[in-house]
Amino acid sequence: MICIGIEGTAHSIGIGVIRNKSGLCNVLSNKIKTYKPETGGIHPREAANHHAKYIADLIKESVENAKIDFSDIDLVSFSQGPGLGPCLRNAATAARALSLTLNKPIIGVNHCVAHLEIGRGVFRDCKDPVLLYTSGANTQVIAFAEGKYRVFGETLDIGIGNCLDKFGRNVGLDFPSGPKIENLAKKGRKYLDLPYTIKGMDIAFSGLLSTSEQYYNKKLSLEDICFSMQETCFAAITEVTERAMAHTEKDEVLLGGGVASNKRLCDMVRTMAEDRGASFFAPSIDLCIDNGAMIAWLGFLMYDSGVRMDIKDTVIDQRFRTDMVDVIWRD
Ligand code: ATP
Ligand code: FE2
Repeated sequence: MICIGIEGTAHSIGIGVIRNKSGLCNVLSNKIKTYKPETGGIHPREAANHHAKYIADLIKESVENAKIDFSDIDLVSFSQGPGLGPCLRNAATAARALSLTLNKPIIGVNHCVAHLEIGRGVFRDCKDPVLLYTSGANTQVIAFAEGKYRVFGETLDIGIGNCLDKFGRNVGLDFPSGPKIENLAKKGRKYLDLPYTIKGMDIAFSGLLSTSEQYYNKKLSLEDICFSMQETCFAAITEVTERAMAHTEKDEVLLGGGVASNKRLCDMVRTMAEDRGASFFAPSIDLCIDNGAMIAWLGFLMYDSGVRMDIKDTVIDQRFRTDMVDVIWRD
């Protein structure tokens, strides 16, 4: 079965084409185009306009790149939520149009669940992981329990990527600032004390953000601040992930989301996993960031297990929570 997936929850529009091959996900194509605001943060309407402008060409490009014809597509899948309303609506509209034009079924999927399933889809040994999902808007620790993916820990305020991007914006780094902070952190030498906020299995970053900004205003070394930010917030999410693994008695950890491209974060989580005798999985970065292939793969899993949707069922849901999905495709 060949499935095309449309991702459009936030600043990226992604079109992926996948094929199910012996129970694993074979990615045939995965094209992504990202909206970058000239100044300031993301404006939802502008991001949505960006997606509307590029989506048709990106669909054609992704289908060509997959070396298939439109007639080979068996299923259309799209990100139904959570995300920014205007962006979600444009992606859903494109998916409906494609489904009706090709006369093929349509499935709307949960974006966060897709981040987890793509890891299980590309690694045969990744069967029942705890997912550490760290992106711009999201920071969640997710695992399967009693028929659903449940959020065991999450940020109480901003996502970890947004924390890094906001700090970067205030100190004059380009968007996205995560990679720039990673480079600066490599030159950091001195650890500066920052708030380390964990409540149960939840975390918060706003104290760390404002203290880092105060250090910058006091003209402390930017390299040391970046180093200290990374050490603190990555240690906190690694700790929460370890607690979730202990609590659920799972021995696999999987990374997802754009912040997973950070080498220091990968090293911390890998070390934690090795110390527990657990397996560590990090998909290639094009499958960690928001992308169409993960949406296509989850669409396939749902369709294959019997889920069917009419056009009237494809209304977007900005607050589509991870644990609202009945995970009928798993035992
Ligand atoms: P969501 O999945 O929540 O909709 P998003 O659209 O922001 O969020 P991604 O594309 O998964 O998601 O991730 C982008 C985020 O990843 C940005 O905040 C960016 O700064 C961060 N990021 C990218 N590379 C790195 C890096 N090397 N180190 C730290 N953060 C990084
Ligand atoms: Fe995401």
